[in-house]
Amino acid sequence: MDQSGALDSLLTEERVLRPLPQLVIEANINPQELEAARKFAAMDHLGYWEEAADELDWFKKWDQVLDDKDAPFYRWFAGARCNIVYNALDRHIETANKNKLALIWEGEPGDSRKYTYFELYREVNRFANALRSLGIRKGDRVVIYMPPLPETVIAMLATAKIGAIHSLVFAGFSAKALRQRINDCQARLLITSDGFYRNGHIINLKETADAALVGSCADCVESMVVVRRCNIGVDMVDGRDFHYDDLIRQERNEAPTEVMDAADPLFMLHTSGTTGKPKGIVHSHAGYMVGVHRTLTSVFDIKPTDIFWSTADPGWVTGHSAGIYGPLLAGTTTVMYEGHPNYPQADRLWSIVARYGVTIFYTVPTMIRMLMRFGAQYPKQHDLSSLRLLGSVGEPISPETWIWLYKNIGRSECPVLDTWWQTETGMFMIAPLPISLLKPGSVTKPLPGVEAEVVDREGNPMPTGKGGLLVITKPWPAMMTGLWNDDDRYREYWTKIPGVYYAGDVARKDEDGYIWMQGRADDVINIAGHRIGSAEVEAAFAAHPAVCEVAVIGVPDRIKGEAAKGFVVLNDGFEASDGMIKELKKTVRNELGPVAVIKSIEFRQELPKTRSGKIMRRVLKAEETGTGIGDLTGGEDEE
Ligand code: WT7
Repeated sequence: MDQSGALDSLLTEERVLRPLPQLVIEANINPQELEAARKFAAMDHLGYWEEAADELDWFKKWDQVLDDKDAPFYRWFAGARCNIVYNALDRHIETANKNKLALIWEGEPGDSRKYTYFELYREVNRFANALRSLGIRKGDRVVIYMPPLPETVIAMLATAKIGAIHSLVFAGFSAKALRQRINDCQARLLITSDGFYRNGHIINLKETADAALVGSCADCVESMVVVRRCNIGVDMVDGRDFHYDDLIRQERNEAPTEVMDAADPLFMLHTSGTTGKPKGIVHSHAGYMVGVHRTLTSVFDIKPTDIFWSTADPGWVTGHSAGIYGPLLAGTTTVMYEGHPNYPQADRLWSIVARYGVTIFYTVPTMIRMLMRFGAQYPKQHDLSSLRLLGSVGEPISPETWIWLYKNIGRSECPVLDTWWQTETGMFMIAPLPISLLKPGSVTKPLPGVEAEVVDREGNPMPTGKGGLLVITKPWPAMMTGLWNDDDRYREYWTKIPGVYYAGDVARKDEDGYIWMQGRADDVINIAGHRIGSAEVEAAFAAHPAVCEVAVIGVPDRIKGEAAKGFVVLNDGFEASDGMIKELKKTVRNELGPVAVIKSIEFRQELPKTRSGKIMRRVLKAEETGTGIGDLTGGEDEE
């Protein structure tokens, strides 16, 4: 990139960075082509996405690109038949990709495994056969509670291959959170590992999985598959639990790929909303496949020689779209790392980039902020010259963090592509391409085929530079097809501001039409790029007998972006003390798992309330931060 000015004064938001000429020459999509794509998509929204769908293989093509007669339950590629695994795996076996690396995996202790497309295909087939032997059929739900392992990828693809629906649960969730998700989708099968390595320790995952099923807590689960990762002795329940390697030993290397209807569910992923109950976001085979393929290949300019690394855990949507499905649909090589980014020291990520020759590195701002703290001497110890593009997702990235990444990791040559999207959107929505003019801290513009606007509560466009609500004004292929068993809650996304999709984010648009994300507009806290609802954390606090009333808000945190702070009114007879703070933190951890970090707890005599008695988190937030994001925050406003 050509630096129009001194990099060090880059804390203002006015700088524009131009891509280096070489990058433009080599780009799959050049600036004229991007402009043409935008124009075409604006004129013919469905035509644009139909063309994207034509790049993939179908058992039967669609009768209609978009069936909107049951809106907002939009049905993309209605009448088509396909399977995402056919496109992510099967079809590559017939091409030069057959012997190319599909997956490079590295364990925390330093062990590593590599799979070519052919090898991954065979492993998936064997496990698909094993799933069928266990009686799993099309439409059944399979919960995968796994750390990042090759078997996690294999389990996801094998489930999808036979037409069953996978639901990943991040390994940092508690037994209770796992149980809630299992019960919500009525899973017949749970796949887990004996344990995994994290920060030099072995975490016993099977124990937590057992705890989720204790007694008749999750009766729907008939069997459990256990991957041996750490070879620690685990208790196996006779007739219910099976070791992964025992199951696949006898299985054949070939397995038929189930023919799916376009709208058949591929996976569900639970995410936090504004109530205590997580939402099961459902994605389908056809739309998700088309949207993810088109956006990942364009934003990251995927070339046959790329080695793509998204640091996200497979338990989040980024792990699905950018870690597994996207790269495999694109026929590229994806990298996966099991452990802690600072193990054994703060250069682990850079050592992985250097050793495998990673060309595209996609991560979250919180990770960069953490590594920044350790200083630039860590990346300096490694040859990072293979890197071509950098990417960011999950929360607003400050110009300071952007520039650190750009300078110290990207040699002031690799563009930082900040991508805005959500579990619900499935695919990247607002993001630059490598050839775009970049402004550090801005997600730039909606991708071709995506129509976004910043509006007020009534849906009127906000004046330039003014913060408002981000909405998506036209359906897009990778959109969720619904919420699991909750049509009403799904409709809310489209009725808050009638006719458009309400993202729940605050944003502003500048005079060039560039979008700057400002954070959530609702009671969802973004801790280290992970969404967690205030209401969920409050429910976890309430599990402690001392808690009479509680409100939880997000407060700024230097590393995590946001952290949770609890305001607690204690029941009579309980004392506000350091011991109580410890106990409450432990309760929340037990209830939700290590994902829900409580930064601080403050005891109060009472909490601010509306006339109807609803706790006003907004008031607490304003007290805490001195400002708040004005009257756009806080669900209680809607009363
Ligand atoms: C929320 C979605 C989709 C991947 C990971 C998170 C925030 C996401 C950005 C970005 C500013 C961002 C939003 C959004 N977010 N990307 N580039 N800049 N904020 O998925 O857990 O569904 O969370 O993450 O607040 O609504 P998710």
